[in-house]
Amino acid sequence: PEDVGILHLHLVVPGAYVDQNDLETFHGVSAGKYTIGLGQSKMGFCSDREDINSICMTALSQLVQKSGISYSDIGRLEVGTETILDKSKSVKSVLMQLFEECGNYDVEGIDTTNACFGGTSALMNAVAWVESSAWDGRLAVVIAGDIAVYAEGSARPTGGAGAIAMLVGPNAPLVIERGLRATFMAHAYDFYKPNLDSEYPVVDGKLSIQCYLKALDKCYQGYCQKARKLSGLTGESNDAVGLNSFDGMVFHSPYCKLVEKSFARLVLNDFTNTPKELIPEVYPGLERFVGVKLEETYFDRDVEKGFMAYSKELYKKKTYPSLLLSNQVGNMYTASLYGGLVSYLCSKPVQDLVGQRVGLFSYGSGLASSMFSIKIVEGQKLLDLVSNLKYVHTMLNIRKKVDPIEFSKTMEIREENHSKAPYVPIGPLEWLLPGYWYLTEVDQNHKRFYKRM
Ligand code: ACO
Repeated sequence: PEDVGILHLHLVVPGAYVDQNDLETFHGVSAGKYTIGLGQSKMGFCSDREDINSICMTALSQLVQKSGISYSDIGRLEVGTETILDKSKSVKSVLMQLFEECGNYDVEGIDTTNACFGGTSALMNAVAWVESSAWDGRLAVVIAGDIAVYAEGSARPTGGAGAIAMLVGPNAPLVIERGLRATFMAHAYDFYKPNLDSEYPVVDGKLSIQCYLKALDKCYQGYCQKARKLSGLTGESNDAVGLNSFDGMVFHSPYCKLVEKSFARLVLNDFTNTPKELIPEVYPGLERFVGVKLEETYFDRDVEKGFMAYSKELYKKKTYPSLLLSNQVGNMYTASLYGGLVSYLCSKPVQDLVGQRVGLFSYGSGLASSMFSIKIVEGQKLLDLVSNLKYVHTMLNIRKKVDPIEFSKTMEIREENHSKAPYVPIGPLEWLLPGYWYLTEVDQNHKRFYKRM
């Protein structure tokens, strides 16, 4: 099969949010810390009415409906998530309820977990299946979803929630480029969830940022090297392969400010790959940074400021359009990168997207990371894909604004009742959007039951 990639995407976010300005006041931090310092406007959250199963059911059922396929057209279904409700039973197996009506039980794939990276791993698996001898001609679906919640403290405003469903198959309008993929994996305790009784991670904020930036450097250098090899370039200069090779660059977004800094970091990478004699011409004003070592600059304010100022316009063009959902919803963990892709696709007229190459950087703490790229192909399928995303702005606008006290109480309720059985959720149904699945009951044997709005 040719041009394997994404045929359709459908993203769902919680129907309730808390405003980050209100949260700053409520937490008693200085005004601007979350909104300017982190770059966040709103944070989506779920009551005890929703769990990882229900948000993934919502994403899958709405994708099937919107794309006009039948459950029997799906031959592989994968879920990437770090929101664990059960140490054995997969979310994928719960989603099989939706296939019962059409009698399709022949569906490969299960769950993949490593922090925010599971969705990307699932996508790679789905693409590999379509390209393999095991492929039976049907479509694959990848779901990446999470409920991102942090204990009270500095990480709390970087929560969020959401799930994306992606339909994968041949002759796609968003082609995943073959051979253009670089990975960096290592052992780190930057963010992890060792307490299985709690939804909250143990997080070392500063280390997680350092790990993220290091992984970005490594993946980008690896990607550029492979791209150079593929295009037959052998020279040292990164002129031909670098940020200029991408029309858009989408990042995993824990919060928008880190993404803005990350974009500047790619320019820094290009800078370090540029012969010294070309620097004054290509990077005027940055000459003083010649000879800087990437691994010594993760928290270097001078470098950060210099390259952010230099790259401002490029950032506005290539990355800022991908931050709508991150800014309006927060970190969706595995879905965050793909929320970035959805935002980017919603940000301009379709004719402007045609022919573009979009780079994607996926990062999951612990750590696992990859950079790969998508080529956008002209045609009816692209028009259909983009027109199916028109609902995104409406979805964001019809959400309910909830005050921080109510949000905080909701977090306490989730905390107290996580993994409780039997349990009947008490969260308001008005916080759910039309067509959303929700939890009705957990029985004494921890079996979970759902209904649809
Ligand atoms: N107005 C404007 N900006 C402000 C204000 C203000 N009043 N107050 C603070 N700021 C700025 C700070 O200067 C800082 O920006 P800078 O780094 O560009 O200087 C920013 O706001 C954040 O302030 P900090 O004091 O650094 O925040 P804190 O240390 O309390 O928490 C952190 C930030 C570490 C990101 C925390 O939210 C966290 O741990 N989040 C979860 C971990 C995370 O998301 N890691 C990223 C990669 S891993 C992953 O995806 C989970």
